[in-house]
Amino acid sequence: MLDLFLFSGNAHPRLAEDIAAYLHTPPRKRILDRFADGEVRVEIGENVRGRDCFVIQPTCGSPGATVNDNLMELLTMVDALRRASARRVTAVVPYFGYARQDRKDKPRVPITAKLVANLLTRAGLDRLLTLDLHAGQIQGYFDIPVDNLLPRPLFLRELGKFDPAELVIVAPDAGSAKINRSYADRLDCGFAIVDKSRYSTDASKALTLIGEVEGRHCFIIDDIVSTGGTMVNAARLLSERGAKSVRAAVTHGVFAGKAFEKLAGSVFTEFIVTDSIPLRPDAPKMIRTISVAKLMGEAIRRTHYDLSISVLFL
Ligand code: R5P
Repeated sequence: MLDLFLFSGNAHPRLAEDIAAYLHTPPRKRILDRFADGEVRVEIGENVRGRDCFVIQPTCGSPGATVNDNLMELLTMVDALRRASARRVTAVVPYFGYARQDRKDKPRVPITAKLVANLLTRAGLDRLLTLDLHAGQIQGYFDIPVDNLLPRPLFLRELGKFDPAELVIVAPDAGSAKINRSYADRLDCGFAIVDKSRYSTDASKALTLIGEVEGRHCFIIDDIVSTGGTMVNAARLLSERGAKSVRAAVTHGVFAGKAFEKLAGSVFTEFIVTDSIPLRPDAPKMIRTISVAKLMGEAIRRTHYDLSISVLFL
């Protein structure tokens, strides 16, 4: 058994169990519930003095809890471990919420990604292990080490099932062109970009397509699906341009508002998301999860032993 202490928040106990199983080390005892007025109550159930502690908690919404609830749980757990004299506290945050407000893109708006970074650091965090940050630069909002894993090894395994001559990797907007291009280069297959215009926080439209998709299988890759608008609009455009089939591989399945309804009525034949966020049971059948437990677990193991994690970035 490894000499590291894993703790789970309430956001995604299943993923924490899967990571614990990979590491052959049990999640440690803690009380994590609410006081009568709703405040988060944490009590670490074991002596952690001098221990290397990891707290697994995506800051997503989850059944019965909001993004804010889960963020507050993470902060209070870090505070409790710090005050209990843990040697090192690492937050394992497979989905880092509030990341999309990462700059002042208009006057008088906050930069919530930086705010959350400040909160975590002030709570006493030593390291952050996360997955596919909405913008890589968010690493720089922290003055502690940040490891930002990518789902690329997992997605490449799925994409490898297709004949490269028949496959096109599609970036759903200009911002994701570079990462999508890296998939197409590795697979030696086609590449296309959708020109997306966002006209409000939760609404966008796909305008034009740059690249050839006619008669080919298209895979749209993105870091996050929220309302589903970006994906559904891009898929419709690809279908209109003669794609043989349209699939998606997305890291974080937020599925806000009517996302499930939109996807159920779309042209997607398959929609892959990682389990960085728990998938709700009412998800349409074509949505399939692939697990990040081994990837995150291996990064935890390597962090604990001070080993390089660069082998995990395929
Ligand atoms: C945009 O930069 C992101 O990568 C996603 O494409 C976007 O946040 C998805 O949002 P929605 O599902 O609401 O269109």
